[in-house]
Amino acid sequence: MTADTLQIEIRQTEVSRLKEIDFNNLGFGRNMADHMFIADYSDGHWQNSRIVPYGELSLSPATAALHYGQTIFEGMKAYKSPQGDTLLFRPTDNWKRFNKSAERMCMPAIPEEIFMGGLTELVRLDSAWVPSQEGSALYIRPYMFAADAYVGVKPSDTYTFIIFTGPVGSYFAKPPRVKIETHFIRAAEGGVGGAKCGGNYAGSLYPAKLAQQEGYDQLIWTDAREHAYIEESGAMNVMFVMDGKLVTPFVSDTTLDGITRKTIVAIAHHWGIPVEERRISVKEIIDALKEGRLESAFGAGTAAVVSHIATIGYEGADYTLPEVAEDSFAKNVKDYLNQIYTGKTEDIFGWTLKV
Ligand code: PLP
Ligand code: COI
Repeated sequence: MTADTLQIEIRQTEVSRLKEIDFNNLGFGRNMADHMFIADYSDGHWQNSRIVPYGELSLSPATAALHYGQTIFEGMKAYKSPQGDTLLFRPTDNWKRFNKSAERMCMPAIPEEIFMGGLTELVRLDSAWVPSQEGSALYIRPYMFAADAYVGVKPSDTYTFIIFTGPVGSYFAKPPRVKIETHFIRAAEGGVGGAKCGGNYAGSLYPAKLAQQEGYDQLIWTDAREHAYIEESGAMNVMFVMDGKLVTPFVSDTTLDGITRKTIVAIAHHWGIPVEERRISVKEIIDALKEGRLESAFGAGTAAVVSHIATIGYEGADYTLPEVAEDSFAKNVKDYLNQIYTGKTEDIFGWTLKV
């Protein structure tokens, strides 16, 4: 069988695993849908686009990505509308960011028709896996890795691009307690912080483990020079509501240019709420917390959606944030976003794509 948009060979699974899934108890990242899309890069071009049953890969122990971390990924979601349509959210922004990451990591760009064609064909084929339970979605993980079996350090000549998906519930079981990190760093200017590359996440695990031993769930990273300015969190951008404004660190080459973040900024502008995208000092946040001026702090990301932060820890002191108020920006924007994602309100911004 071949898809019409692009030549994709499709080999369907003989037995679906769908009935094994408890859609009322999904958690995050444990369940994978029936199929995956794969394309190979060799001889200077992408080829061999195919959809096959989700399953194991066979790799050489010398595969370059396993040694030197030349690997990038994306995270996106598909939602089910009340009419039963499957909706993707701003998928071409993920494609563009993927290629930005690819450039920084010295990897080949993936053409739009392969990224979008593979994505839409895969999601269409596994559309029965898109959950309709509130707060659930089909998480989509496109990624690329250096596939050469070669032990010297150099850009690979061959790459593998894969998209797999899986139904997910909430990323956080409860509003996270976050610690402002003032010793370790995630990214420095001129580094790879702005790329969605595997190493950024590997390097965050040890500092995050230490914070977890102190009772925190996540870190808020600070700048590498002075530890004086807020950057972002482990898997989400951070946003603050204070003094009647939405305030968020600007995007630089040390932070990920989050799609949820820029969506929320656009909604705030649309609602006439003042927005400041700028450098935010840790001191400013701690002062606002002490003076009761910080209405809310939340993480914004595909997995996290809008995750209200319960507590911020800084230099041994814990500051508890107020509960999210009924008519607050944080609550309203989360509700509105969920309505747009699921097609329950008119998408006046043109962000959703029906597959
Ligand atoms: N920052 C980091 C480090 C992330 O991993 C993510 C998740 O993708 C985000 C921010 C949020 O980005 P997005 O809203 O595009 O998912
Ligand atoms: C996402 O929000 O899609 C992410 O990539 C976060 C991930 C590290 C779980």
